[in-house]
Amino acid sequence: MAPEITPDHIMQIGMGFEASKTLLSAVELGVFTELAKAPGDVTALRERLGLHPRGAQDFFDTLVALGLLRRVGGIYHNTEETARFLDRGNAEYNYCGSLLEMANGRLYGIWGSLTEALRTGIAQDESKATGQDTYGALYADRERLRQFLASMTGVSHAANLAIARQFPWKDYSTVADMGTAQGDLATQILLANPHLSGVGFDLPPTGPIFADYIAGHGLQDRLTFVGGDFFVDDFPRADVIAFGHILHNWDQERKELLLARAWQALPSGGAVVVYDTLIDDDRSANAFALLMSLTMLSVTDGGFGYTAADCERWLRAAGFSQIRTEHLTGPDSMVVGIKE
Ligand SMILES: C[S@@+](CC[C@H](N)C(=O)[O-])C[C@H]1O[C@@H](n2cnc3c(N)ncnc32)[C@H](O)[C@@H]1O
Repeated sequence: MAPEITPDHIMQIGMGFEASKTLLSAVELGVFTELAKAPGDVTALRERLGLHPRGAQDFFDTLVALGLLRRVGGIYHNTEETARFLDRGNAEYNYCGSLLEMANGRLYGIWGSLTEALRTGIAQDESKATGQDTYGALYADRERLRQFLASMTGVSHAANLAIARQFPWKDYSTVADMGTAQGDLATQILLANPHLSGVGFDLPPTGPIFADYIAGHGLQDRLTFVGGDFFVDDFPRADVIAFGHILHNWDQERKELLLARAWQALPSGGAVVVYDTLIDDDRSANAFALLMSLTMLSVTDGGFGYTAADCERWLRAAGFSQIRTEHLTGPDSMVVGIKE
């Protein structure tokens, strides 16, 4: 008998924003952080969070039904996962909660204009109102700058750990992380490979936030910051140049320019490591990567996601050889090329 066809899958996706926004508001309100301090019943919890009585019980029970809280005898508790990744007092908040904060404060609103982005091809982010480029507009506000850079650590940390383990770092002495944000990629590489030193390169306003993050990991003697524009300024001298979640921000011409500049800057035998949420070569399976590409449509001027085959082709055109693609973790993969 043919399986029954139902609209369940369609409805789940179409109404998925409700569950998503319930979680994002819970992060914004600090529900999980409060519960980490002390579990509580509906009255205590809504008073601690400053919520109106009308929606409070439904809100907490929705989180229970979504598997994000537990309720035992009328008392709400975090689950193991929310206690670990969504309590602001826990270091692992940086690898999950910080990304959701940015998704709530920034991407949720921007995605509301997806139809307009699809019709016009124009970014729907801060640049639309200000006429500045995305990073200029985003970084004009210190709190948004801080939140954005922290969220980059959240989105990248698992892949950064994988690169720190997987790449043959023993063959190299120095690494330059281009568009380093808080510096988590360089941090994880240096923590796992004590013989290495490195540079984090990014736009100047990010310097103080990078410095705090590096000092927090005790790496200030091995990891330095260089502020600049990677389309204009000289690349730092390094045996390995890394681009983490960088190429998807830019149009074809600027993707190729960055790879050409990396090739020029590297010594012979040096390596370029490009990593991103790569779209599968058939462009049909990695929904997360395709959705990320739609985010790029909405938040950049010309950026788009790409497949491993695309990236390998661009690396070859830039002059690299011994090109290989390796899966890292989740939706992320890295493409490596050597300057012979
Ligand atoms: C999408 S984030 C990726 C951050 C980090 N590499 C990661 O994977 O989490 C892009 C980074 O590129 C930096 N960036 C943007 N334009 C730049 C430019 N022209 N020169 C140097 N860095 C730039 C941004 O400040 C930001 O930190």
